[in-house]
Parts: sequence; C-alpha cells; structure tokens
Amino acid sequence: MAAVEKMQSPSPSKRTATLSVGDKNVSFPIYDGVEGPSVIDISKLYGETGFFTYDPGFMSTASCDSKITFIDGDKGILRYRGYDIDALAEKCDFLEVAYLLLNGELPNKKDKQSFDRTVTLHTMIHEQLHFLFRGFPRASHPMAIMVGAAASLSAFYHDSLDINVAGERELAAYRLIAKMPTLAAMAYKYSVGMPFIYPQNDMSFAENFLHMMFATPCEKYKVNPVLAKAMDKILILHADHEQNASTSTVRMAGSSGANPFACIGAGIASLWGPAHGGANEAVINMLKEIGDVSKIPDFIKKVKDKQSGIKLMGFGHRVYKNYDPRATVLRKTCQEVLAELGKIDEPLLKMAVELERIALSDEYFVERKLYPNVDFYSGIIYRAMGIPSKMFTVLFAVARTVGWVAQWKEMMEDPKTKIGRPRQLFTGSAPRAFVPLEKR
Ligand code: SDX
Repeated sequence: MAAVEKMQSPSPSKRTATLSVGDKNVSFPIYDGVEGPSVIDISKLYGETGFFTYDPGFMSTASCDSKITFIDGDKGILRYRGYDIDALAEKCDFLEVAYLLLNGELPNKKDKQSFDRTVTLHTMIHEQLHFLFRGFPRASHPMAIMVGAAASLSAFYHDSLDINVAGERELAAYRLIAKMPTLAAMAYKYSVGMPFIYPQNDMSFAENFLHMMFATPCEKYKVNPVLAKAMDKILILHADHEQNASTSTVRMAGSSGANPFACIGAGIASLWGPAHGGANEAVINMLKEIGDVSKIPDFIKKVKDKQSGIKLMGFGHRVYKNYDPRATVLRKTCQEVLAELGKIDEPLLKMAVELERIALSDEYFVERKLYPNVDFYSGIIYRAMGIPSKMFTVLFAVARTVGWVAQWKEMMEDPKTKIGRPRQLFTGSAPRAFVPLEKR
C-alpha cells in the first residue's frame, strides 16, 4: 500500500489577522490551503484575550486540515485527493477509490489486486455476531441494527488492536470496509425473515453486496451487471465528503482514542438524521406523500410557508450553493437504471424531475441557493433496484465507511491531533444559595 503523505502543520502565510478587543490588538497567523478559503489560526485567542469564538453549527469553522477531499460549494466541485468526482465515478471502481482515499494515490495494477483481495478476505463476519441480529425485533429499522452491529465489531477486535500501530490501523480499515456490506445485507435479510447469504470471494464489492441482498440458498442468483455498475458508482459518489456531520462525529470520537469500530458506530448514528444521510429515505417518503405531479405546486406552497416546517428533502446543502456534482451523476445513473429495468415511466422519477424543474425556477429556492443534493435521486435508483427505503441510509453508511476510516486514519496520524473539547457561552443560572427540600 502506498505510503500516505505525512500530516504536518499548515504553512503560515506572511499575512496575519488582527483583532482589537478592548484596548488590546491581537494578531493571529493566516494559513493558506492548496485551494479553498484560507484560515485564521485562533488557537491562542482564549489565552491572549479570555474570549472564546462562538460559531453554532460551525458555519465558519475549520476543525482540522486535511488532504483527502476538497469541495467548492459555489462552483459545485467535489474532488477526492485532487481527482474530480465525475472522472472517478466514470473510470474507477469503488475499491480503487477506497484505496485512493486511504492512501492518497490511485493504485497500480499490482496494488489494486492485492487491496481488492485483502478486502475480499475480510468480508465474512464472526459467526457469534449472527446472535446479535437475533436480539432485534424483525421490524427494527436497519440503521438501528447497523449502529449496534458496527460498534459491536469492537467486541471482536478491541483486545487485539493497538491503534497506535500503523499496520493495525490498516487492518482495522480493511475489516470495516469489508464487513459493512455484509452487515448491511444481513440487516436487510433479517428484516424480511430470510436466511443470511455469505459473501462470495469471486465477486466484486458491489456485485457481492447485491448478491448478499437478493440471493437465496434455493437457487443461483445472477447479479445484473448494469445494476452492479450503478451500485458501484453510487458507492463512489457517497464515499467521502470533507468534514460533514458524521465524519466530524467519527473524528471527535476517535480523538479520545476510542476503538475505530465504535467510532464508526457513532458515525452511523449521526448519518441517520433526516438532515444528513437520512434524507434519501425522506425524499421517497416526500414524493409518495405528494402523490402526483399535479399536487407539486401545492406542496411547494407549503414548503415556502415557514409555519409548515416542511422542507424540500434532497434539496439544499450547507456547503453546495450550486448543483451538487453528485446529484448530476446520479440523475444520469437514475435514468440508465430505470431504462435497464424497463421502469423509465416510474411515477416517482417523473415527479422528482418535475419537482426539480419547478424548484429551480422558483425565486424562493433560487435566492436561497437550494439545489438538488446527493440524496435527491439516489432513493429512486435504490427503489427501482428493489431495495426498501429503510435501507437507503444503510447504503449511504456502507459507502461512507471508506471516508470515515480514511479521515479517522488521517487524524490518528496527525501529530497535531488533540482530544476534541469545545467550550461554550454559559447562559444558565447565576450562582445561588442551596434551598433544602423542606423549604422548597
Ligand atoms: C447530506 O455536509 C455534508 O456534506 C452532507 C452530505 C454528505 O455527503 O455528507 O452532503 C450529505 O447530508 C446532504 C443533505 C441532505 N439533507 C437534506 O436534503 C434535508 C433537506 N435539507 C435541509 O435540511 C438543509 O438544506 C441542510 C440541513 C442540508 C442545510 O441546512 P443549512 O446549511 O443549515 O441551511 P439553513 O437551514 O440555514 O437554510 C438556509 C435557508 C433557510 O431559510 P431562511 O431562514 O433563510 O428563510 O434555506 C432554507 C432554510 O429554511 N432551506 C430550505 C431547505 N434547506 C434550507 N427550505 C426548504 N427546503 C429545504 N430543503
């Protein structure tokens, strides 16, 4: 495996930022990245001024420096290790992109074969883990199972894992990337009362996942190559995305030295929220609720009425104030998959395309720079493949495990890393005398 470029301190530019607090002027170094916004290093702010910064939701805060993924929200750019996402989605397979995210370089033929084979040989899970599934109600949301199943991998590897040793971090990375699709397919099979299907070592990552999802012990199951290719592309598009909520959760959990399997469990929990990875399931529920193209104008009216609290799911993004480049690829993949399956007239797709057309011409969405994001089309593809909507965010987690692990590894190998411990603005009670129970 290629050696990852070492993390060092960002190189300070000649420029500084000066803050005047009371009668004091304090200067802070400015660091320039390779591209994107520069940063002001305010790590000494509290020591120099007694003030904290205040930035709920981290709208203007860089939590780290990273070499993995770059996003330009205004231009709708997404690059993994410098490569544009549409080129990677078009020309690579998922494990090739996983290698790139983990190691910083695309693999040569020999490295690719060895990486793929190593992942393949880690796809099985310990037989004891089957009993964990048996403890869940059959109707459990598969994300509830995945949070538990991923974290429970630490019960099998914690004692043999020293995360301060590079080779052991690499082994943990292989295990997590390889076992997530197996756990995901098991969560689906368990929910429909069907037997678990074991991974097949002669299949590609995406083909193996679809086989574990849809094969039965009763007959040979041939995975449709068009669907395997589409699934592979979808996994690439979801693999990493800079310091989003779930990745920041994994970094925060990992900063305390927690077991990487438990950290991925925390990431899955964060991804489940409807404002984040849960949006793909929410998009399908929204389209079903609208019911018909003719009802779209009424729905749009409700979305624009703040009192309704209704959001246009699959639209908007904290960073992209332009079309999410992943949505562009997914829109095309959606049409390819539906055509392959003879479902090009799928009513939900027609509704999605009409909803997008109306929203993109409506001042309310235009002035707020609300465009389709990665979740807007992915659910329609999954549904056409026969994947239930409760599994959509699970698929997001399978793909994003690569990004979470790459970011966790980068953090573990960064000498600047400290345990994350933000402060607060205290707005609670001023000091007050205790009142004994009999006097309250
Ligand atoms: C993902 O961070 C990542 O990179 C995430 C992700 C990844 O790969 O990891 O890209 C994956 O999570 C994609 C986002 C999926 N979520 C959704 O599709 C849910 C719907 N979207 C919204 O909840 C919202 O757009 C967010 C949460 C995604 C972003 O919200 P922000 O950045 O906090 O923006 P905001 O809520 O301050 O909105 C700004 C304005 C507000 O109106 P005003 O107060 O200015 O009048 O836009 C409005 C919001 O009400 N708005 C929406 C809207 N999203 C924002 N109005 C209607 N529908 C929406 N979807």
